[in-house]
Amino acid sequence: MSFLIEARGLAKSFTGGGRRVEVLTELDLSLRQGERLAIIGESGVGKSTLLYIIGTLERPDQGTLHYEGRDVTLWSDEEVSRLRNRTVGFVFQFHHLLPDFSALENVMMPALIARRDRAGAREAARELLETVGLEERLTHRPGELSGGEQQRVAIARSLILEPRVMLADEPTGNLDPATAGEIEDLLCGLNEKRGLGLIVTTHNRQLARRMNRQMELHDGRLAPVAL
Ligand SMILES: Nc1ncnc2c1ncn2[C@@H]1O[C@H](COP(=O)(O)OP(=O)(O)O)[C@@H](O)[C@H]1O
Ligand SMILES: [Mg+2]
Repeated sequence: MSFLIEARGLAKSFTGGGRRVEVLTELDLSLRQGERLAIIGESGVGKSTLLYIIGTLERPDQGTLHYEGRDVTLWSDEEVSRLRNRTVGFVFQFHHLLPDFSALENVMMPALIARRDRAGAREAARELLETVGLEERLTHRPGELSGGEQQRVAIARSLILEPRVMLADEPTGNLDPATAGEIEDLLCGLNEKRGLGLIVTTHNRQLARRMNRQMELHDGRLAPVAL
C-alpha cells in the first residue's frame, strides 16, 4: 500500500540568540490517501514546524519527504509550490483572512492567485461556503463574523484548489468547546465525504480521538499514543 505522504529522518533546527535548538530529529511520518492523523504535543515542541515541513512551506535540514513516491526535497522551489497548490490545503489557528475582503473573495483568492477563471472561482467559492454552512454570509467581512465562522471561511479557502490533504494547525485552538465541536464535525465530514486526508495538530483530546491515528511529538520525534 502506497502513501500519499511519507517523511523519513526529518531533522530541523533553528539558531536564535546564539543558541541552536534542534526541533525535529530523525522524525518519520506517513499518511495514506484519505487517512486522518492527529499530532499532539506540548507547546513549543515543534508541531507547527513539522506541519510547515510536511506542507513544503519549509525545507528540512535532513531527511526525505515523498509525495506519492516522489522525493520533493530534490525539487526546485517552483516545482514544490506547484505540487503544494495542487495537493495541500492549510488551516491555521489564526485564520489569516484578509480583513478588507468578503468571505466569498477570501475563499476565491487562492484561485485568483493561481490564475483560475474568475467566474469559475466565484462559483466554486460559493459552493464551498455553502458546504461549510455559510451560504448566508457570502458578503460579510471577517470582522463581521464570529470566530467559528471565520475558521469555516478559512477551511473553505483551504479547499478552493481541491487539495488531497488538509494540514490543520490547532484549528480549534481559539474556539469555545461548542464551536470547536462544530469545526471538528466539519473536518471529519470533509474527510468522510470527499476522502480528504487530514493531519491535525491539537491540544484538544476530543478532536485527536476522532482521527484514525494519534501520534505525540516529543524530543523531536513522533510516537504513537493512546488517548
Ligand atoms: N523561524 C524560527 N526561527 C527560530 N526558532 C523557531 C522558528 N520557528 C520555530 N522556532 C522554534 O522552534 C520550536 C518549535 O516551535 P513550533 O513549531 O512553533 O512549536 P509548536 O507548534 O509545537 O508550539 C520553538 O522553540 C520555537 O521557538
Ligand atoms: Mg504551533
